[in-house]
Amino acid sequence: MYNGHKAEFLEELTSGSNEDRKSKDFISKLAEKHGLRLSEAENIASFYTHSEGKVKVCRGLPCSLKSTGIERELLAKYPDEELEDVSCLGYCDKAPVAWSQGKYYQLGNGGTKELEKQPYGSDFREVKDLKEFLELNGYETLISFLKKNNRDEVLQMVNDLNLRGFGGAGFPVYIKWKAVSASNEQKKFLLVNAHEGEPGTFKDRILMETNPYELLEASLIAALVVGADEIIIALKHEYLQAENTLKSAFEKSMDFFHSSGVDTALPKMRIMRVPGYYITGEESALMEAIEGKRSEPRLRPPYPAEIGLFGKPTLIDNVETLLYFLGRLREYSKDWSKIPGTKSYCLTGDVKNPGAYILPYGSPALDLISKKGGSNLSDLKAILPGGLSGGILTSAEGNVKLEFDSIKAHGAGMGTGSMIAISKDRCMVDVMDSIEEFFERESCGKCMPCRYGTKELSSLFENLKHGEATGKDIENAKRTADVMMKGSICGLGQASARMFLDSLKYFQEELDEHVSGKCPSNVCFQEAR
Ligand SMILES: Cc1cc2nc3c(=O)[nH]c(=O)nc-3n(C[C@H](O)[C@H](O)[C@H](O)COP(=O)(O)O)c2cc1C
Ligand code: SF4
Repeated sequence: MYNGHKAEFLEELTSGSNEDRKSKDFISKLAEKHGLRLSEAENIASFYTHSEGKVKVCRGLPCSLKSTGIERELLAKYPDEELEDVSCLGYCDKAPVAWSQGKYYQLGNGGTKELEKQPYGSDFREVKDLKEFLELNGYETLISFLKKNNRDEVLQMVNDLNLRGFGGAGFPVYIKWKAVSASNEQKKFLLVNAHEGEPGTFKDRILMETNPYELLEASLIAALVVGADEIIIALKHEYLQAENTLKSAFEKSMDFFHSSGVDTALPKMRIMRVPGYYITGEESALMEAIEGKRSEPRLRPPYPAEIGLFGKPTLIDNVETLLYFLGRLREYSKDWSKIPGTKSYCLTGDVKNPGAYILPYGSPALDLISKKGGSNLSDLKAILPGGLSGGILTSAEGNVKLEFDSIKAHGAGMGTGSMIAISKDRCMVDVMDSIEEFFERESCGKCMPCRYGTKELSSLFENLKHGEATGKDIENAKRTADVMMKGSICGLGQASARMFLDSLKYFQEELDEHVSGKCPSNVCFQEAR
């Protein structure tokens, strides 16, 4: 079951140059080396078409909203085949951005600026080294847990807290933790999902870069609670800096664990960047990529808590979920129920101060937009409270609290808590065109409703933009969206349909005007196809 060959094949494959990867000879030699059939190797290779060597240009919504059109000029020195459009690079507050050889660049009217070490904003305390972390009582909770080994009590706390995951789905954490801890299997994994790919979401990167020790401590405790003997922190392919920061923090921490005499009681830890795309952040697609396969979602059941990574029970949690858990556990000895937890919210799009901000969990959207973002709600047409996956709200809903139930009561979803603001001047058809193009590009194609549906919705908005769509096309798309909602294997197909249905709910008039050849915002019908 422990299939090391494919994982090693994929690792070697994706570190090769793009030219190599297209070569049948290269794939064939690699297949032989790792004991794979050629057809199997080619099947895997055809999924991973990106390359370390290319310049990645971000086309995600936050970057396209900030695009001045100058990006291509700035990148003109590169031949087309060395440029690759990608959907999110995880630096959305500095939009528009590009990535090359492990470095990020901002592409603006002032030229190309390398985004070296970031000023993270006052909300994030940067913990410089292990000494500072220990001075802040770092690893105290871990050591105390190791002494008490009060697994059941901690599990009960997770249940009492009603903690829900911050990776996008908002699934109750306790259910998964309980299931994995109940398994009698000897081998169990904790998979930390740091494959952050939702356009507008970059909080996990900042959290890992500013305080890597905290994630190490949170992951170690979580693994011990559920009885996992191996932790894998799986980072997005481009997060080289976060990987280096975590690895260096882990090395230093090992010395500390050794001197404290607890090193032998701790699970193994692997910190790795995983090749892939937006879909790779979906938990089962992430496991497939780590196993060296095509990063496509698995059919469920069985759930990862029963049969997960390499066939073993696996707890999968998002970076911020684990950090939130640790924060609450630290306060558990106090009366934690009276202390509100805090959450990192991302804010991008048409606001004065885009960024990642820490607010009391459940703060009103208005606080994020005006107090942190420096913008007026009245200047906005729409807010996307959960990136591209959480649906659409209008600015009239600025009183919505940024937590799962309140956003749901307004008909949308919180997702990762990453808000994209859309100004009054924008054309919703143009915005939706960018959104549905994203879903079409990122659909892995495994299931039919999503494979065809994302294509149809993307074409609809492209056609509306050019005055070539009819009312019947919109009606047909509604039926398709219904099938996508019911029949997609994973959340990507549903998110695409949901965004379309929400655009109709709030902005049908704008869509209809495009059918009659008018763009109320004077944005569309400008460019020839
Ligand atoms: C298309 C898609 C992309 C996803 N991307 C991420 C991601 O980048 N990071 C993440 O933690 N969860 C992502 N998820 C959610 C995961 O599948 C899973 O629910 C999550 O990692 C579980 O952790 P949590 O319970 O702590 O939220 C994605 C889901 C879908 C459908
Ligand atoms: S819904 Fe889309 S992304 Fe998800 S499995 Fe189906 S085709 Fe792939």
